[in-house]
Amino acid sequence: MGESVLKVIKNRRTIARFEESPVGEEKVKTILEAGRWAPSWHNRQPWKFLVIKDQEIRERVSEVVPNVFKSEIIDAPLSIVVCVDPEQDPYHYVEDGAIATQNMALAAQSLGLGSIWIGVFNLKGEKESREAMIKEILDVPDSWRVISLLPIGVPESVPTSERKKISEIVSWGYAP
Ligand SMILES: Cc1cc2nc3c(=O)[nH]c(=O)nc-3n(C[C@H](O)[C@H](O)[C@H](O)COP(=O)(O)O)c2cc1C
Repeated sequence: MGESVLKVIKNRRTIARFEESPVGEEKVKTILEAGRWAPSWHNRQPWKFLVIKDQEIRERVSEVVPNVFKSEIIDAPLSIVVCVDPEQDPYHYVEDGAIATQNMALAAQSLGLGSIWIGVFNLKGEKESREAMIKEILDVPDSWRVISLLPIGVPESVPTSERKKISEIVSWGYAP
C-alpha cells in the first residue's frame, strides 16, 4: 500500500461538527465514484447511494435517528445513505454496503472533507424500527436494507482517536 493511502486511512476521523460551506459537485462525484468501485460478492454491486442535500429531507431523516446524531445530519451539507438489496447478494450484503461506505469516507478524507458513519439501529426497548422510518422517508423498498448514513462536509474540528497496538491484534504464529 502506498504511503498516501495509509495516510488518508490514518487521518480519517469521525467528525461530529461540520462547517456550513457546501461540498462542490465534482467532489461529490469523486466520492460516489469511490463507492462505485468498491468490491462486492460476485461483483453484484447490490447498492444504491442516496445523496441527500435537501434541507427538508435532512430534517426529516434527522428526526428518526437517535438524538445524538441529529445535528450531524442537519449540519452536514450532504449525507450519502448506503442501501443494499439482499436479493442481489444474500450472503454478504452487509459487507458490500460497509465497504462502499468506507471507500466513500476515505475518498471524502482525501478531498479535505470529513464524515461520520452513522449506523442504523434501534435503542433498547424501542419498538418502531428506525430503519423502516428512514426507508419510508427516502422511498427505499421494504426488502432493501439501509447500511449506513454518511454525513459529509468540511470538518469544524477534527478529534483524535487511538487504536489497539499491533501486538494486541496480530498473531504471527500461524505463518509456515
Ligand atoms: C459500523 C459502524 C457504525 C458506526 N456507528 C456510529 C454511530 O452510529 N454514531 C457515531 O457517532 N459513530 C459511529 N461510528 C464511528 C465510530 O464510533 C468511530 O469510527 C470510532 O469511535 C473510531 O473513531 P474514529 O473514526 O474517529 O477513528 C460507527 C462506525 C462504524 C464502522
